[in-house]
Amino acid sequence: MLDIKITKAAALKQKPDESKLGFGMIFTDHMFLMDYTPAQGWHEPRVVPYAPFQLDPACVVFHYAQELFEGLKAYRTAGNTIQLFRPDCNGQRMFDSCDRMCIPPIPVEDFVQAVKTLVEVEKDWVPHIEGSSLYIRPFIIATDVGMGVHASKNYTFCIICSPSGAYYPEGIDPVRIYVEDEYIRAAPGLTGAAKCGGNYAASVKAGELAEKKGFAQVLWLDGVEKKYVEEVGAMNILFKIDGKIYTSACVGTVLPGVTRRSCIELLRDWGYEVIEGKLAIADVMKAGHEGRLEEVFGTGTAAVVSPVKELDWKGDKVFINDSKIGPVTQKLYDTMTGMQWGRLADNKGWIVPVCNG
Ligand code: COI
Repeated sequence: MLDIKITKAAALKQKPDESKLGFGMIFTDHMFLMDYTPAQGWHEPRVVPYAPFQLDPACVVFHYAQELFEGLKAYRTAGNTIQLFRPDCNGQRMFDSCDRMCIPPIPVEDFVQAVKTLVEVEKDWVPHIEGSSLYIRPFIIATDVGMGVHASKNYTFCIICSPSGAYYPEGIDPVRIYVEDEYIRAAPGLTGAAKCGGNYAASVKAGELAEKKGFAQVLWLDGVEKKYVEEVGAMNILFKIDGKIYTSACVGTVLPGVTRRSCIELLRDWGYEVIEGKLAIADVMKAGHEGRLEEVFGTGTAAVVSPVKELDWKGDKVFINDSKIGPVTQKLYDTMTGMQWGRLADNKGWIVPVCNG
């Protein structure tokens, strides 16, 4: 159990217009900090006023990207409870990412305590309007000063919060996805399964090119043969073909999404066969042309459950479900958001209440 010291900001910022939040643009009054040194381990957990970092320009994180991050949300229910969705899963994934990035791990229960403490301090920032929430961004950076390429000995763990609306400007409207045929995001042995900034830096170029062509995001293929579907820039992706649900397995190159695993569990509860394995893009496109590709949707904390209306692979296009959200995607969206915002009973034990709003 952490002994977290709380120092409140002398003056609070003005709260934003909740109808114009966007995603990850506005930050709250406080942040959580904890430092690591070899002598003291993780120490001095604290909530302090939100402020810029002062870091030496030679810090390892700026040069060799030794860092990682997480993403989760706090929701306000109609009864004014502030609650989290499976924060232990984010804590476990951060623990696992630490191992891949040679960062000293933080116990899952400490991660959850830190998130809950900050959210309680910032409870007035959890938005009230439909579909908006407090996006929580925990991250760890390497703070050793020096240009040698090796694991840092010192680190800072920080959590910041941002009241946010939908990730895509389209909201729940189906998005267009470009299947990337030149660049790759991950390959066996690399860091694809860790939530580290390097994976996202590597993805920016393809994302920018796709955006210029009017696509919301890129669908990544495997990094070896560019044959099998893996994930989308900010979400995992699932395909409904001939009544069955297919998605790539989380075997080292794909981010193990919390929303992904929750949706798979719900789908199996509802009797769907969910196949986690290799799915060739050529088979997806063929199913699309033959009218057997019934639904395609992404899953992610930021993106929630996001329908896809079009896939474009090397100039070949398929359009899904007349560009409308499909019934399974809609049911998943309604169930996930229903549990998260407290409109539906949590019969899975996924909801963690934090405090009264
Ligand atoms: C999330 O869904 O929380 C993520 O971290 C994806 C991010 C790139 C917005």
